[in-house]
Amino acid sequence: MSLPLDTLNALREIKDNPNAIPMSMPPSFYKDENVLPLEVDEVFIKGWMCVGRAEEVPEVGDYFALDLLGEPIIVTRNDDNEVVVLSNVCRHRGSQLLSGRGNNKRITCPYHRWSYDHNGKLLAAPLVDQTPGFDKKRCHLPKFNTHVWYGWVFVNLSGTAGKFEDSVVGVDQYVKNYHPEELKSVEPTTEYWPLNWKCLAENFMEGYHLTPVHMKTLHPMTPTRLCEKVPGGAGYTGYRARYNESFEGRTEVHPDMLEEERRQSMMVWIYPGFVVALSPNSAVYMSITPEGPTDLQVRWDVIARAETFDSGEAKKRFDFAASFNVEDRERLMDVQKGLSSRYADRGYLAPADLEGTVWDFYQYMSEKLL
Ligand code: FES
Ligand SMILES: [Fe+2]
Repeated sequence: MSLPLDTLNALREIKDNPNAIPMSMPPSFYKDENVLPLEVDEVFIKGWMCVGRAEEVPEVGDYFALDLLGEPIIVTRNDDNEVVVLSNVCRHRGSQLLSGRGNNKRITCPYHRWSYDHNGKLLAAPLVDQTPGFDKKRCHLPKFNTHVWYGWVFVNLSGTAGKFEDSVVGVDQYVKNYHPEELKSVEPTTEYWPLNWKCLAENFMEGYHLTPVHMKTLHPMTPTRLCEKVPGGAGYTGYRARYNESFEGRTEVHPDMLEEERRQSMMVWIYPGFVVALSPNSAVYMSITPEGPTDLQVRWDVIARAETFDSGEAKKRFDFAASFNVEDRERLMDVQKGLSSRYADRGYLAPADLEGTVWDFYQYMSEKLL
């Protein structure tokens, strides 16, 4: 499997000359079926992916099941009160173990009733324990490396990613005063969009489109002209979406927040697929993974300060995010169609404050894919 020549050449150029005139990647980067397997192996499986919030499994035995890159996964909480991420595939003959959300004392396979504890250890295998040579220890569910970052649960499926913290050195300065670890989930939502995953991630993380696409929704609050990029790191980038002077702001804030932080949404992208807009009383996040060259899964939610739930403010934030997601989706479907044109080509990116995050992301991709 090799990368299409124009994508390969563009990535080489970006890697060799980070100071080149910033251009968008060729259309093949966003649609060619040879790009995806490499991205899945090199960027997603070997990287860190967000599966949701630790507070979605608050009690021992709480769980939810999800598919990530087609892999059935369980997120649960063990007796030591740790969040655990396991393969959701039975070690007997491959049945999926759990679906949906719930709480259980042990994980029991619906097929032949093998059961496992919340660390994936096999507890019982009815009658098979009489099979000569049966070795319980060889029937552990694969348990993946996890890291909880400000309440978000990240998983590395390959076991080779290195420490999560090492990939995001320097990002805390942008995040910590918002205290996202204290925020509460409104409504974890999973959607499937017929788009290349990078189109959505790049769109979430560039401020250039805020005014034209979100004229009535986001523009009155965070207009394009006030966006300001911040320096990124090996595994992340970000920008400040500053509030318009006429926007009154949000009042339910953490006391640690600086005046500047109360007057902006801090946009952070943890590569490859986690993006978040941290605002003073809440945050919108998305965890984006590919489902195909032009199909993605997005697990997204609004998390908000506890005091915003009774007043209905938290739900309002969710509905607001859903409304600008619709605006983005409509525009991006149009982009995907345009990228399939034989006349589509690379284009000039806007100045760094507006699209520098996209350029940072390209550099990360060139490091990983070449
Ligand atoms: S497949 Fe799970 S017990 Fe048989
Ligand atoms: Fe948008």
